[in-house]
Amino acid sequence: MAAYEFETHEYDVVVVGAGGAGLRATLGMAEQGLKTACVTKVFPTRSHTVAAQGGIAASLSNMGPDHWQWHMYDTVKGSDWLGDTDAMEYLAREAPKAVYELEHYGVPFSRTEEGKIYQRPFGGHTTEFGEGPPVQRTCAAADRTGHAILHTLYGQSLKNNAEFYIEYFAIDLVMSDEGECQGVVCWKLDDGTLHVFNAKMVVLATGGYGRAYFNCTSAHTCTGDGAGMVARAGLPLQDMEFVQFHPTGIFGPGMLITEGARGEGGYLTNSEGERFMERYAPTYKDLASRDVVSRCMTMEIREGRGVGPNKDHIHLHLNHLPPETLAERLPGISESAQIFAGVDLTKEPIPVLPTVHYNMGGIPTNYWGEVMSPTTKEPNKVVPGLMAVGEAGCASVHGANRLGSNSLIDLVVFGRAAAIRAGQVVDAAAPIPVLNMASVDAALDRFDGLRNANGSIETADLRLEMQKTMQEDAAVFRTDKSLSEGVEKMTAVAAKMGDLKVSDRSLVWNTDLMETLELTNLMPNALATIHGAEARKESRGAHAHEDYPDRDDKKWRKHTIAHVDGNKVKLTYRPVVVDPLTTEAEGGIDMKKIAPKARVY
Ligand code: FUM
Repeated sequence: MAAYEFETHEYDVVVVGAGGAGLRATLGMAEQGLKTACVTKVFPTRSHTVAAQGGIAASLSNMGPDHWQWHMYDTVKGSDWLGDTDAMEYLAREAPKAVYELEHYGVPFSRTEEGKIYQRPFGGHTTEFGEGPPVQRTCAAADRTGHAILHTLYGQSLKNNAEFYIEYFAIDLVMSDEGECQGVVCWKLDDGTLHVFNAKMVVLATGGYGRAYFNCTSAHTCTGDGAGMVARAGLPLQDMEFVQFHPTGIFGPGMLITEGARGEGGYLTNSEGERFMERYAPTYKDLASRDVVSRCMTMEIREGRGVGPNKDHIHLHLNHLPPETLAERLPGISESAQIFAGVDLTKEPIPVLPTVHYNMGGIPTNYWGEVMSPTTKEPNKVVPGLMAVGEAGCASVHGANRLGSNSLIDLVVFGRAAAIRAGQVVDAAAPIPVLNMASVDAALDRFDGLRNANGSIETADLRLEMQKTMQEDAAVFRTDKSLSEGVEKMTAVAAKMGDLKVSDRSLVWNTDLMETLELTNLMPNALATIHGAEARKESRGAHAHEDYPDRDDKKWRKHTIAHVDGNKVKLTYRPVVVDPLTTEAEGGIDMKKIAPKARVY
């Protein structure tokens, strides 16, 4: 057994991660007087939410008519009927409240002439249950909305006495023999000390796992740490095969060019100068939902109509828009286009390509953020003491495809929901659970094993192998061949984890060890993704299977549940929640409006 001393910290709640969801949960917990710690591997305002550009969806009706039911309908359709109906209703209904709360906390939203929150159009957001024109639903702070939200929530959390543990890396969950979560074991990166956060509730807000792919808009920190810990605790992951490609990553480096660019009037062209989206999505054109636009771009390139010397990308035009609009509404991407593509977007188009952007799947939760470990008998079984929110979790509101700007609203609605629920189930007067030392020791042993790993493969080399495999075999379009080869290759890649070599044995700022720990988290995420995709014999949302081009609701309107153990993955399924929170008589949506149908834009 590894001999490491550690310091124990006791809290009612410990939140792991300080992005939008983690900070909204932290703030909500602290506001209720729960003793709350937020543990984060990066400084809070450097969390990946800072990179969110275009905005946050809520039916405020500031720019024209809107309704929460239209937002719910768009989300159901966007999800390609894989989202859970109760959670989607909760999201759409609570969104306006959550945005006004942000406004009152101090988020500096852009404003209309009358001083209301400015809202822009975004893909897949419509009026009249998809029968009317696009709606302006996405509330924006120029194109730095995530930045504005993150800074505000951090300040408010400090004001409410939440305690922050910054640059602490979460190694593993502490679980009791009965399956209750009791805390998390962490490594403090700057001084090498070890810490156990012992709590009545652990909230995982660790973000997505974009870095399982070679080309993505995600920060290098997006390594699926929460899902990795959950998988090692023997708990499942859900719907991991659904990986979103954002249509407009800058060709090459992959930096995000916000969908807000198309919301403000930007459009895509092929090598013939054709606005090809008019052909594929006659009604909503460039504002069709993301999976659709990414597929159309890919088809244009495949059919030889890509731009550039190798005909391997697409052009995004903003050069027809007034320079004042670009300066006021899109200052961030004006800068990114110049720095990363060498383009002055007032004069030239930006070269873009669909780029991995978001993980619809994650740790299964109900709409209160409580982690579920579904069984056939108990499809909604909750894991005591454990919650997951934000991109780490899967509530599931995005189903098979997320609408743009539904991510920021997911972060704050479900971060807030987790806090409301914790206020009901965490008893501040109750004692902290007695730590299961066997679980703490297992985490420290794993840490020590990796620290002293003396195999023959460098972490960076194995990570690259994983990223290239995922990029090639679990891409925008998938086939039986690519997916079965992907499963085979990823099984072999994951088998090499036992042969890793860590050269730096120190404990202080050991990035070699940190990246190795991150790789142990990326790997189960990647395995669950490729296995789930290989098994799903249909096309739905972001899972475009060329051998099964149609959606098959009879066989496949169900959530994939993946248990990952080493390089093995076991798949089961759980039913989609089809019942809403409220009936039509209670003011809810007419169920006929959201009955499954062909998804056209
Ligand atoms: O395009 C964007 O600004 C990204 C927004 C989102 O992913 O929700």
